[in-house]
Amino acid sequence: MSDALLSVRNLSAGVDGKEILHSVDLDVEEGGVHVLMGPNGAGKSTLGHVIMGEPTYDVTGGTITFGGEDVTELSPDKRSLAGMFLSFQAPVEIPGVPLSSFLRAIASARPELDMKRKEFRKRVRELADELDMDRAYLDRELGVGFSGGEKKKVEMLQLLLLKPRLAILDEADSGLDVDALSVVSRGMELYRRECNGTLLVITHNTRILEHLDVDKVHVMVRGSMVTEGDASMIADIDTNGFEQFESLAQAR
Ligand SMILES: Nc1ncnc2c1ncn2[C@@H]1O[C@H](COP(=O)(O)OP(=O)(O)OP(=O)(O)O)[C@@H](O)[C@H]1O
Ligand SMILES: [Mg+2]
Repeated sequence: MSDALLSVRNLSAGVDGKEILHSVDLDVEEGGVHVLMGPNGAGKSTLGHVIMGEPTYDVTGGTITFGGEDVTELSPDKRSLAGMFLSFQAPVEIPGVPLSSFLRAIASARPELDMKRKEFRKRVRELADELDMDRAYLDRELGVGFSGGEKKKVEMLQLLLLKPRLAILDEADSGLDVDALSVVSRGMELYRRECNGTLLVITHNTRILEHLDVDKVHVMVRGSMVTEGDASMIADIDTNGFEQFESLAQAR
């Protein structure tokens, strides 16, 4: 029995009968910073979604354990309440709903965030300030007309407000500009410092990892977890790419 916060064992999953993840194993230690890397289409985002219970994917084998509890069959909202968080690659837009109301709504489902309206507003404002986010955004309609960098700030604000035990940040497809990059980097640092959180970062952009002490790097190729190692793997992958791992992926 592993004492990792998140433990994925022999996980296979797919869509419409097509297997995407093949017997994946992954352990994420409590309080650690783990990085998931791999070429485009390797299955990294799929793994993130399956860990969160996204119903698009069918789990055909294996287990997902979080905090010692088997969550393989739990709904996404139950996983979220249990302390799991996945950043949205394409954050929602809800015209007519101010960002502040949205934040209040997600917080109200959580007993630990049950605070007086005034106190809650204060907390949200403090976080907005910490992220260099103009407070005026809190009154704007959720996501509508937000730039990429602004959406990232909202995402980081949610992360710091909810303080999940595990945050899976999938930045791969979001085309981060310099501004968004520093927002994510700052958000991750604050999350580590203030929430003592556990991170699983899915990324191609190793610059966002510069300010973090990475404990472990996991590499996926064609739906299989092929290797893992320490932070030195990041520089190696930057220089030599993923080809070196190709032969390790199971032939399918
Ligand atoms: N909902 C889906 N329906 C059909 N195929 C899917 C679905 N989701 C993922 N796939 C397929 O699964 C494979 C893995 O995709 P995934 O998005 O997980 O890769 P990735 O490692 O995150 O890649 P990238 O680095 O480009 O973000 C791809 O071939 C993709 O087309
Ligand atoms: Mg992806």
